[in-house]
Amino acid sequence: MGGKKISIALVGCGYWGKHFLRLCLQLPEVKFRGVFDLSDGRIDELKQLYPDVYFYTTLKDLLDDDAIEAVIVATGLSSHFEICSNLLKAGKHVLCEKPLTFTAKESEALGKLASDSGLTLMVGHTFEYNSAVLHAKQEAGKGALGELKYLSFRRCGNGPIRTDADVVYDLATHDVSIANFLLGDVPDSVNATGYKLLGANQYDLANIDLIYPSGISVNICVSWMELVKQREMKIIGSEGMLLFNDVVPSEKVRLYHTIAPTTQTRGDFGDFQLSVSNNKVTIPNIDYKEPLREELQHFIACASQHQRPRTDWLSAANVVRVLEAIEESIAQQGQSIKVAK
Ligand SMILES: NC(=O)c1ccc[n+]([C@@H]2O[C@H](COP(=O)([O-])OP(=O)(O)OC[C@H]3O[C@@H](n4cnc5c(N)ncnc54)[C@H](O)[C@@H]3O)[C@@H](O)[C@H]2O)c1
Repeated sequence: MGGKKISIALVGCGYWGKHFLRLCLQLPEVKFRGVFDLSDGRIDELKQLYPDVYFYTTLKDLLDDDAIEAVIVATGLSSHFEICSNLLKAGKHVLCEKPLTFTAKESEALGKLASDSGLTLMVGHTFEYNSAVLHAKQEAGKGALGELKYLSFRRCGNGPIRTDADVVYDLATHDVSIANFLLGDVPDSVNATGYKLLGANQYDLANIDLIYPSGISVNICVSWMELVKQREMKIIGSEGMLLFNDVVPSEKVRLYHTIAPTTQTRGDFGDFQLSVSNNKVTIPNIDYKEPLREELQHFIACASQHQRPRTDWLSAANVVRVLEAIEESIAQQGQSIKVAK
């Protein structure tokens, strides 16, 4: 970037947007222009915390600010399409939170707007910038796990509940993006069941199976109604297994080197205790970086140097295509649904 700063603004500054605001104020390559948020209450809170930050009164004021080169969108899903369209039409590069849109068609329409004007459109698939996920991809890529057999994800907790996205669009987005990234592909078909345990008009628990063209299956469980917060990814290969547990403070990634299932039974209480701990385990030394900082720096580099981001609109559309198939399978009581390609 040759020391040149990029002028960035932020639309939507709630729970997640506040992390973007902190990073924009920290990163030397950013000249931060200001924030637009619909909620006056939120703006009042932010003004206390950040007295030097400028707040736009309308989205139009932000769109009309010619000094802004790029905008981060961290509003809820229901406003992503409209806000991103307006920003791209106003000539701004856009980094939008996940999932990009409700439908793949909308993601593609945004992609066309961006391509036609030579703008960067990137989606915040944060886990594709996560050091543990990158390590897992590297290990799988060099064959440390043998032939990959299946992947399993659990992303469960007690809320937080969203009102404009169900648990599939909110949480499974992450797992679908990680699976597509690790396998370098998009599933052919999905089977899923969903439940409305909390009595609201949207799914808060879903069990999902994805089948990839290679035959690898991926199981995902997402829930807003779980006692214990779980953020777990397992990759099972013919010669090893990798576990990424994101809720433990250290040793988040473990590599189990042999997976021969136990055949012995000792006929006593010891049977019950036989476990994977019989394997040789490695705990890799990973240099953990803040994923959102990595993501934002990648966006800045791509927008400044006119390069295609890793999580571009195509990867966003590929994830949304899978989410749409999951919703259709749930609506059809778990029937296998082909993912549109
Ligand atoms: N990548 C991740 O790991 C991750 C984590 C959390 C949230 N998110 C995503 O970030 C987005 C925001 O989530 P959140 O938890 O911060 O929600 P939130 O409700 O806490 O914040 C959203 C903010 O946007 C504002 N807003 C809503 N509509 C607006 C509009 N039309 N114009 C301007 N401001 C508007 C709201 O007033 C609020 O302050 C969602 O898309 C969510 O999926 C991503």
